[in-house]
Amino acid sequence: MESAPQHVAPGHALVTGVAGFVGSHLADALLRQGTRVVGLDRCPPDRGSAAANLRSSLGHPAFDYVRADLRDEDLAPAVAGAEVVFHLAGQPGVRPSWGETFPDYLACNVLATQRLMVECERQGVPRLVLASSSSVYGRIAEGLGCREDAPARPLSPYGVTKLAAEQLCLAFAQRPAAGTSVIALRYFTVYGPRQRPDMLIDRALRAALSGMPLHLYGDGSARRDFTYVDDVVAATLAAAAAPARAEVVNVGGGRSVSVAELLEIVGRVAGAAVPTRVSPAQPGDVEATLADPRKAGELLGWKPQVDLSTGVARQLEWLARRAPVGGTRVVGGDRP
Ligand SMILES: NC(=O)c1ccc[n+]([C@@H]2O[C@H](COP(=O)([O-])OP(=O)(O)OC[C@H]3O[C@@H](n4cnc5c(N)ncnc54)[C@H](O)[C@@H]3O)[C@@H](O)[C@H]2O)c1
Repeated sequence: MESAPQHVAPGHALVTGVAGFVGSHLADALLRQGTRVVGLDRCPPDRGSAAANLRSSLGHPAFDYVRADLRDEDLAPAVAGAEVVFHLAGQPGVRPSWGETFPDYLACNVLATQRLMVECERQGVPRLVLASSSSVYGRIAEGLGCREDAPARPLSPYGVTKLAAEQLCLAFAQRPAAGTSVIALRYFTVYGPRQRPDMLIDRALRAALSGMPLHLYGDGSARRDFTYVDDVVAATLAAAAAPARAEVVNVGGGRSVSVAELLEIVGRVAGAAVPTRVSPAQPGDVEATLADPRKAGELLGWKPQVDLSTGVARQLEWLARRAPVGGTRVVGGDRP
């Protein structure tokens, strides 16, 4: 690993998964800093959450949307000209990965990544930044953080596919004649505006606002290192230019809170307690995640800026502007 992080904005970037939660924020940030962005996703850009997520980028003169499926379509036109490829497309979610949808996880997380990596190599793209996950770690010893060189033993099929994807990219990047260097970022539970509706903070805020119980898995003792989306975007941008050939880097602040503590914070911010209906913890749910953030500091010059209460308040504000919750229209709605 070399040193001296330098934050140089790429002139032209491809963002895969651009219609999703993190990818859409990344595209907005790249456009703000003057990068020309090609955004690729398989979603129609004019429907549902994709339309809402892409609201500001779609009208931007430096943004092109490519609707394509990474599993089987020609990727050459989308990759052409990119100085950096940010590969965020993927099939997220731990619990459903046990079921019949596993082939989607395999194809969207592993096969799609391999196809993109081959195309980046073919076109000589200098850098690929991959969205990996804290799920690759599995169980961590009490009191110890997840360090990038700790054994990765995922506890879910989702985690297995994310680990396979990152190791695949690293294998490509370590070949002697490799033209594309790789930084795989292990995101730790991202939250903030546009968060996927299956994720805990979004569900907890909706429960507090609507009074309808949150279906909670486990007794609330599970701990998570929650990372605000703007901080995740900052780390991802920094990874575009950080000196590296094939590296894995945690993107998490190194502080974890229990689900019970989180629900208290959500209740305080929302001004109403989060009603819960408790079910047993599900297979694949790890007891704790806790990033060791030192490498992100050294390699990316990254430090998270947004604390949990502030981030939850921003997510609430977004949610309140966005949609009716549980039949109750929430204050300030300027979006359909
Ligand atoms: N959100 C988190 O807390 C978190 C944590 C760890 C890792 N990650 C990873 O970060 C990335 C982004 O997560 P997110 O929460 O924004 O997810 P998201 O579901 O909101 O976005 C993913 C996007 O990828 C697109 N996509 C999936 N398969 C595709 C394919 N074959 N071809 C083209 N597009 C495809 C989807 O349509 C979607 O718009 C994912 O790779 C996820 O595994 C997320």
